[in-house]
Amino acid sequence: MKRSIIITGGAGFIGSHVVRLFVNKYPEYKIINLDKLTYAGNLANLKDIEDKPNYRFVKMDICDFEGVLKLMQEEHVDGIIHLAAESHVDRSIKDPFTFAQTNVMGTLSLLQAAKACWEPLGYPEPCRFYHISTDEVYGALEMTHPEGIEPPFTTKASSGKHHLAYGESFFTEDLKYQPHSPYSAAKASSDHFVRAFHDTFGMPTVVTNCSNNYGPYQFPEKLIPLFINNIRHRKPLPVYGRGENVRDWLYVEDHARAIDLIFHEGKIAETYNIGGFNEWKNIDIIKVLINTVDRLLGRPEGADLDLITYVTDRAGHDLRYAIDSSKLQKELGWEPSLQFEEGIEKTVRWYLDNQDWMDNVTSGDYQKYYEDMYRGR
Ligand code: NAD
Ligand code: TYD
Repeated sequence: MKRSIIITGGAGFIGSHVVRLFVNKYPEYKIINLDKLTYAGNLANLKDIEDKPNYRFVKMDICDFEGVLKLMQEEHVDGIIHLAAESHVDRSIKDPFTFAQTNVMGTLSLLQAAKACWEPLGYPEPCRFYHISTDEVYGALEMTHPEGIEPPFTTKASSGKHHLAYGESFFTEDLKYQPHSPYSAAKASSDHFVRAFHDTFGMPTVVTNCSNNYGPYQFPEKLIPLFINNIRHRKPLPVYGRGENVRDWLYVEDHARAIDLIFHEGKIAETYNIGGFNEWKNIDIIKVLINTVDRLLGRPEGADLDLITYVTDRAGHDLRYAIDSSKLQKELGWEPSLQFEEGIEKTVRWYLDNQDWMDNVTSGDYQKYYEDMYRGR
């Protein structure tokens, strides 16, 4: 094999898309999916590639330094793409310890293992430690708008592209970190450790900060899959606060393509923001979801608007996220391939067509998949 790469968190939402892309696109690479299979890890996400000869699954905790080191030595690993994390803000509010353990200590354990493996060799090309982070480390943006113009208004990115926005400022790579939730605080800390390993030990690292992803295989605790499933079953839709918060949405396969590009062509020690200039208020997305599900199920459009239920706001709820991804576009030529309307239609169809996947996840049966699959191997 030409290269041997560990992808951590490959059984999760984004990780499974990255694993699939790499396994299919690079048959000459060995792709090792290292995942602990927490509640968020689901090997059924990778059914279509699990028998490919260049794919290996290893059930392991990233905090297991000895285990990771042994695996790296055994497999002559020359690249790590690190996605494993606790990823849900609401859970981090209830249980911050687990977030510090996995996101901070787990990242540090991986960094130490990579250092132990690569430092004696002088970090030879093409060694890379690629850390996947979030835009949430930058904190929250204001909803300011030019005099007399109601948001969303059209504005122009530094790349020259026009897009709709709810405010005049954006997350750029040079912004200072101001995380608010235990989730984003833990991710911010892990980003700092990754950069420290470059600055202190010369490890070839790269960090990317991406906006909210959506698409197939997302765990139904996050807004989009949770609401699609609830609309289908006519269950209440718990909208936090007044539904006025703004998120910047990117189709997950576009994120996976960016990760592929940056892993191969990104500059060492650089940070790249990834996002699609696609800001939406939660309440507007929710209405699009209701209309789309209703239409695809043959219900009168909007029939389920009365499912909207305003509930107590999330503690410390960040008002607005908006990524400026001009650097990535200018330096590496990346652009999202899908318009939001197209991406949402595709996503809703996928969840409606894959009710078995959803039922497996919501019933908890998916956690037996690993045991059944690996029994006797
Ligand atoms: P996810 O919660 O769907 O999946 C996380 C995966 O990590 C699961 O397979 C889980 O089993 C695994 N994992 C958790 N703890 C582990 C441990 N200790 N050892 C090994 N594996 C472990 O997450 P996601 O939404 O796919 O996010 C992946 C990464 O991308 C995260 O680092 C997240 O911070 C980042 N990110 C996510 C988004 C988003 O919108 N989902 C946006 C930007 C960045
Ligand atoms: P989420 O998918 O949890 O992503 P994040 O918190 O990382 O942005 O939430 C997206 C937005 O939707 C966020 O503003 C919180 C809101 N939200 C609700 O209003 N109700 C819900 O049940 C959930 C899960 C989220």
